[in-house]
Amino acid sequence: MGQRVYIFDTTLRDGEQSPGCSMTVPEKLRMAAKLADLGIDIMEAGFPIASEGDFEAVGAVAKEFPWVQVAALARSNTLDVERAAKALENAKRPRIHTFIATSDIHLKFKLNKSREQVLEAAVRSVELARKYVDDVEFSAEDASRTDIEYLTQVSKAVVAAGARTVNLPDTVGYSVPSEYAEMIGHVVRELGDSAIVSVHCHDDLGLAVANSLAAVQAGARQVECTINGIGERAGNASLEEVVMCFKTRPDKLPYITGIHTEHLYSASQLLTSMISFGPQPNKAIVGDNAFAHEAGIHQDGYLKEKSTYEIIDPRTVGVPEGKLILGKHSGRHALKNRCETLGYTLDIKELDLVYKGFCALADRVKGVRNEQIAQLCQEIKAAVAQ
Ligand code: KIV
Ligand code: ZN
Repeated sequence: MGQRVYIFDTTLRDGEQSPGCSMTVPEKLRMAAKLADLGIDIMEAGFPIASEGDFEAVGAVAKEFPWVQVAALARSNTLDVERAAKALENAKRPRIHTFIATSDIHLKFKLNKSREQVLEAAVRSVELARKYVDDVEFSAEDASRTDIEYLTQVSKAVVAAGARTVNLPDTVGYSVPSEYAEMIGHVVRELGDSAIVSVHCHDDLGLAVANSLAAVQAGARQVECTINGIGERAGNASLEEVVMCFKTRPDKLPYITGIHTEHLYSASQLLTSMISFGPQPNKAIVGDNAFAHEAGIHQDGYLKEKSTYEIIDPRTVGVPEGKLILGKHSGRHALKNRCETLGYTLDIKELDLVYKGFCALADRVKGVRNEQIAQLCQEIKAAVAQ
């Protein structure tokens, strides 16, 4: 049995705030229902001070899904924290998530504050949030570019002020796994079991999932992530990738989540239907080609024994069946198999002719569709019968 890692979903906040991803309140509620089915532990439903829609969404999600822990984001100031508290006032399991940047670069150019002032704002906002709710999370924005001694000092101070979770984001996606793990490990050791250390990684260098996994190996026990990896700029760590890494490689990653993985594909599809883009076709786990095998050698091996080329049974993530795309690299074996699936049993001569027609077609088009293969079979059968 692996150690439990909590999944904090921020599809409806970090995801939703990125270009092309905005959602109406009813859309957020539909997506929230799917996230609840999926079994996420904490759902960040919005940033109440940012807009009326976010304020309303947080309240509506908390009302509709009272058994889910619902988080609302707030900067480390009084107005933000009070707005988040108001949005969560009827929630059964509210969490206020307050944040302030801690790196010198943000302090100097964005906040124009000293380290002491930021430390004080962090502590004050946590204390204020604790007046409204028991469950407070603090995030040190741009933690991965923050001086480690100062980061440790802030982390200890916010825990003393009442934060139960300390999130250390790689806000700009700059970290690499070994250094991120080192930073997380240091804070985990310093905090002991006084708080849960959380990670929140952006994908600017394509390392968000790798960094999140390295952090968990270093002792983090909450991962912040999104469906399809949506989020600011290049996005956040993809929930489906993080979860399936744990599930597929328990030998190397002995961690468990509460995610019902058979809902992953439909969660991805539902999100795609609401925002302006879907995952790229070759996206791991939920992309159109994630379980498609085109090369002839691969298809031949896959048809003999799926585990030759498939490390995840597509049904585990809710994909109805492995999709074999037939294209110009496909072999006769795969074609014969597809023809049989389509209801055409071919003798050797017929298969030869269908294969010839198929190759000519595959040269012209990218991926031959089932209807085209069925039509070829019909034509060849008719021609041979004459
Ligand atoms: O990327 C980030 O640092 C954030 C924080 C608000 C958690 O989204
Ligand atoms: Zn973020």
